[in-house]
Amino acid sequence: MWEDLEVALEKVADQARKSKPDPDRLGFGVHFTDHMFLMKWDQENGWHDARICPYQNFTLDPAAIVFHYGQAIFEGLKAYRGKDEQLLLFRPRDNFARMDRSAQRMCMPRIPIDKLVKSLKALVYLEKEWVPQREGASLYIRPTMIAIDPVLGVSPGKSYYFYIILSPVGAYYAEGCNPTKIYVSDEYVRAVKGGVGAVKTAGNYAASLYMSEIAKKAGYTQVLWLDACEHRYVEEVGTSNIFFRIDDRLITPPLEGSILGGITRDSVIKLAKGWGIAVSESRIAIDEVLAANAEGRLQEAFGTGTAAVISPVGELFYKGTRHVINQGRTGELSARLFKELQAIQHGYQEDPFNWLVRVG
Ligand code: COI
Repeated sequence: MWEDLEVALEKVADQARKSKPDPDRLGFGVHFTDHMFLMKWDQENGWHDARICPYQNFTLDPAAIVFHYGQAIFEGLKAYRGKDEQLLLFRPRDNFARMDRSAQRMCMPRIPIDKLVKSLKALVYLEKEWVPQREGASLYIRPTMIAIDPVLGVSPGKSYYFYIILSPVGAYYAEGCNPTKIYVSDEYVRAVKGGVGAVKTAGNYAASLYMSEIAKKAGYTQVLWLDACEHRYVEEVGTSNIFFRIDDRLITPPLEGSILGGITRDSVIKLAKGWGIAVSESRIAIDEVLAANAEGRLQEAFGTGTAAVISPVGELFYKGTRHVINQGRTGELSARLFKELQAIQHGYQEDPFNWLVRVG
């Protein structure tokens, strides 16, 4: 495991290890494991000083670029405890490849994908006791890169931290895998074509908070964003991509620059196509979705994401009107996809697309 890693290892002393959280009350992203991965980049040395070390605070200059101009990108992926106690990562290379694309768009250094997959395996192996046993629980993995130079002029950083932290998690939404209620934003927008909507950068999430709070106060779990020009075409939910099943066809908005290309989105498209279901990645206006619902042709809707997994939508709220979908129940395809994905991720089912990477 460690021989050819070129990553220093600084272990936490046994007596300093944290106690594990109650597996029935994990929540999402509130507990962190004993160790993390950290490496640094500067113009002179490139990536260097890679280590697995105790989970720790950073000391950063208050002028650090990340605090002012938001040069920050991240990823979200998971490790699962599978059959025979096997630890499994789901599509880690795809996450790091997406992060590499994010880095290019945000003028940050390219990342060493192979080395990171290896380092992540070593980190998860070291933290194996933190990977939850419970059904629906997993170890959430958060790779992050930030610019740390203390300089107030607006230009790309010349020094960066790249780190990976781990958090044992349960369901992202309080609803678990039960249907969520979603507020369609007809005023505020998440991203515009030509901007950074397709990139997993911190600012996209900051920009979503104001509308998300409005939605929460109105009793909705999440926001469905529409396109920034016409406020008409469905984009994504911010924490997940969105799918509609209309007349037995699965429709999801295309990746045209303002939507994040979700790994779960891609997995769902591949699984559904493999089952002979017609899938189209095409623009769909919110009016078309609601008309299909009114005519009884919208069979179900669901979000897809690493954190959200498959998250059925039971209601859409748009311009003051509630639109209940599939009688507020989990759709048949949402349930099938959820079950299939979970079975693959935990190694209980054949992995036809070679998505799993074994740890250890
Ligand atoms: C994920 O699904 O991993 C995400 O990054 C969404 C959210 C938790 C920010």
